[in-house]
Amino acid sequence: MTPPTPAPMLALRVHAVRAEARDVLSIELRSAVGSALPPFTPGAHLEITLPAGADSRPALVRHYSLCNSAAETHRYVVAVGLAPASRGGSLAVHEQLRVGQVLQARPPRNHFALAEGAAHYRFIAGGIGITPILSMLRWCEAQGQPWSLLYCTRSRVRTAFYEELRAYGPRVRFHFDEEAGGQLADLAQALSHPEPGEHLHCCGPAPLMRAVQAASAQRAPGTVHFEWFSAGAPAPAAQAPAAAADSAFDIVLAQSGQRLHVPPGQSILDTLEQHGIGVPFACREGLCRTCETGLCGGEAEHRDLVLSDAERVAQKTILLCVSRAKGAVLELDL
Ligand code: FES
Repeated sequence: MTPPTPAPMLALRVHAVRAEARDVLSIELRSAVGSALPPFTPGAHLEITLPAGADSRPALVRHYSLCNSAAETHRYVVAVGLAPASRGGSLAVHEQLRVGQVLQARPPRNHFALAEGAAHYRFIAGGIGITPILSMLRWCEAQGQPWSLLYCTRSRVRTAFYEELRAYGPRVRFHFDEEAGGQLADLAQALSHPEPGEHLHCCGPAPLMRAVQAASAQRAPGTVHFEWFSAGAPAPAAQAPAAAADSAFDIVLAQSGQRLHVPPGQSILDTLEQHGIGVPFACREGLCRTCETGLCGGEAEHRDLVLSDAERVAQKTILLCVSRAKGAVLELDL
């Protein structure tokens, strides 16, 4: 299988920047040439290139979930929280992005699609993980689908889109850690009585996601959906074997027959680059699928956070930035 050809870039002009909470900005982007934008579905994200800064910061590629209505084709809206340990992306957005600036972006892609046909949609969001959930609940509202949301944040002032969400009444339950004496939300209790036919969608920091995984472990397969967005988030145990288990293996490039050695501690992507073989990449953390490549032979030890269970079992594809081989050799469609 040949890796998907990257979609052509879009030129997007920053139309508005708004403060949505302390350290959270929303960015409204419109076509720089005035055309309609490619459509998206709830849960989709944009891959945006933040231009190099005057402070010699290099250009950065970042992925941000779309939070506006998927019915809109005149704008994309993303929201960005200022990360305390920012690797540059959130800092660049908060300090350097200006109205009128033109950014390059790839058309939206969706790795966190809203489940179809649910009788009830339950959402759990933590912090800036509210962004894909917002787009999802807007869709539910428009379609008349029943939904509810538990939104967990550190404090009321750090709760993005607070007033807008409060207007939905009892369907939105807020949990502010600071107002609860530092206690996290009781997820076991929150998830204890699922509605018939309910699907659960969750996005937030890794500790919240793992707590939701634990609290929903008994639910029917395929009814719980996660979007792991935090950089460096430890993967769920079922999906990511410990890095300590790293061992060496070889890769064979099916199209040329070239064989390369991947030592412990080095990714397949790193190895390819070291040998002058360029493969598209963005996050390098198993979150975005940009480096996805066809797997022709061997068994992959999938360490990403985006492949579905079915894709993991099928062994037809691999994310080169994080995943490794279970055996001695992997054959890649390169
Ligand atoms: S570069 Fe993002 S998943 Fe590999």
